[in-house]
Formats: sequence, structure tokens, C-alpha cells
Amino acid sequence: MLVKEALREGDLAIDATSGNGHDTAFLAECVGAGGRVIAFDIQPEAIRHARIHVGECGFAERVEFHQQSHTNLTAHVTPGTVAAVMFNLGYLPGGEHSIATKSPETLIAIEQAVEVLKPGGLLSIVCYPGHTAGAGEAAVVEDKLSSLAHDGWRVAAYEMRGTFRPAPFLLLGCKP
Ligand SMILES: C[S@@+](CC[C@H](N)C(=O)[O-])C[C@H]1O[C@@H](n2cnc3c(N)ncnc32)[C@H](O)[C@@H]1O
Repeated sequence: MLVKEALREGDLAIDATSGNGHDTAFLAECVGAGGRVIAFDIQPEAIRHARIHVGECGFAERVEFHQQSHTNLTAHVTPGTVAAVMFNLGYLPGGEHSIATKSPETLIAIEQAVEVLKPGGLLSIVCYPGHTAGAGEAAVVEDKLSSLAHDGWRVAAYEMRGTFRPAPFLLLGCKP
């Protein structure tokens, strides 16, 4: 809802973890026919699924896919030009669980997202603390977002309480 509100027709958006392409297609819909989405995933299987899904949604021409790590984000995007960057951390649903996002790379990619976002741009990160590696990564990412708050970003978290296991939560940062 908040990402949708942040995006306008003609904007540039980034999906840093394209996976099966649901978020990529969502971003492509938000930026409209005049906008563009750049999507990253390291897995060929993910890029293949995402291309099919985006194509079925009718958005193929708005999306540029890179089968590369999101640590290459700045190689493809001009600083200060992006309206929203989305991360959906963890592993590919239905895929190999050992191939998941990893804190050191995630932190590098967040730094790059900070650079490419324009003032007022939105950083959106879904973390998965319910499994061991995900919990460590979620903690590191939370610290990073807190440090952005000290640099003047507006930072917010949205999470469920009272769940059996730690539930996925959303971190949002708005660039000053
Ligand atoms: C939870 S899934 C993303 C789900 C996706 N947003 C969707 O709508 O279906 C996380 C994805 O991150 C990808 N990934 C892991 N490390 C990555 C990296 N360094 N750069 C880009 N993608 C990465 C995985 O391959 C996996 O497909």
C-alpha cells in the first residue's frame, strides 16, 4: 500500500530480489506504461519464473532483468533517480532454501539503494526472522535502518505480534 502510494506513472523502481516476479510485476503496474523496473536475482530459475509472470501480466516491456547480485545495483542505475527499491529477503519460495540472501551482500545492496534513491524515495525491506540465518540477517538490517534514521531518514517497521514463531516484518525508509 505504501509503496504504491510512493510511485507515480513514469517512475523508475528497483526489485532487488525478483524471485518469482510477484513484486516485480507489482512495481511494473505501479510505474505504468511510461515507467521502468530494474529487477535482480542471482538464480536463473528465479529470473525465468519472473520473466514468465511479468510477461503474463503484460508488463514485459517495462522490466529489465539482471541475473546478478543486487550488489551490482549501482552498475545499472544512476544515483538519485529511483522512486522505490524493494527487497524481499530470504530464499525463493519453492526453490533451494540454501540459496538465500546473505547479510554482507544485503548490506552492500542497501548502501547502493540509499545512493540510487531520489529524495523522498522509498526503501522497502521484508525480513524473515523465523529461520536461523534469516534472524541474523533481520537483526543486521534493522541496525542499518536505525542508522539511516540518525541520518535524517524517516524509518518505520510493521510487524505482527503474538505469533507462534517470529513473523516476517517490513522495514520502510524514506530518503530525506
Ligand atoms: C523471498 S525471494 C523473493 C520473492 C520475490 N520478491 C517474489 O515476488 O516472488 C528472495 C530472492 O532473493 C534472491 N537472492 C538471494 N541472494 C541474492 C542476491 N545477492 N542478489 C539478488 N537476489 C538474491 C533469491 O534467489 C530469491 O529468489
